[in-house]
Amino acid sequence: MKSMVVLVSGGGTNLQRIIDCIGTGEIPNAEIKLVVADRECFGLQRAEKHGIKNVIIKRGKNFSEKLTDVLPENTDLIVLAGFLSILNKEFCERFPGKIINIHPALLPKFGGKGMWGHHVHEAVLKTGEKESGATVHFVTSGIDEGKIILQKSFEISPNETVESLADKVHEVEYSIFPEAINMVLKDY
Ligand code: GRF
Repeated sequence: MKSMVVLVSGGGTNLQRIIDCIGTGEIPNAEIKLVVADRECFGLQRAEKHGIKNVIIKRGKNFSEKLTDVLPENTDLIVLAGFLSILNKEFCERFPGKIINIHPALLPKFGGKGMWGHHVHEAVLKTGEKESGATVHFVTSGIDEGKIILQKSFEISPNETVESLADKVHEVEYSIFPEAINMVLKDY
């Protein structure tokens, strides 16, 4: 049985998708040992509802050290599912190939500092991109720079808004995230 820790900062619909996929067997032989949030958020309540151990580590200085302290032994994969804090270099280097993130755009475009949530979709629309999508990638100390595991795109429609784009990106995320998790866990 593979063991995961999921990090969240927001609504946690991607966390919910992972929980559901474990339930249906779409993500086989895996469990979420712990959910960590860096602030009060609905994602924590989702964990609680499903009986998954959960904890808040307040965002800010020493977050990565405190996270190290609570990580269960033998954690196979650390999954960032809408997580807004930056993990420090030491943490990223301690777990090479064991931390993955979902990003709401087609990296390497629209990544890096400040590129999160609605900022990403605003930038995509402003630039007049023809397509957007989502990317699952390994986390390294460079923000959004780690190797891409899986990516899926769709066409942007002429009347697209930030909200409609966010909805479409979420749908893509729900499809590629479980698949990417399976791809990575398979190699452990
Ligand atoms: C997702 O779009 C993810 O790519 C981004 O934040 C959003 C989180 O959504 N980093 P949710 O909390 O999983 O609903």
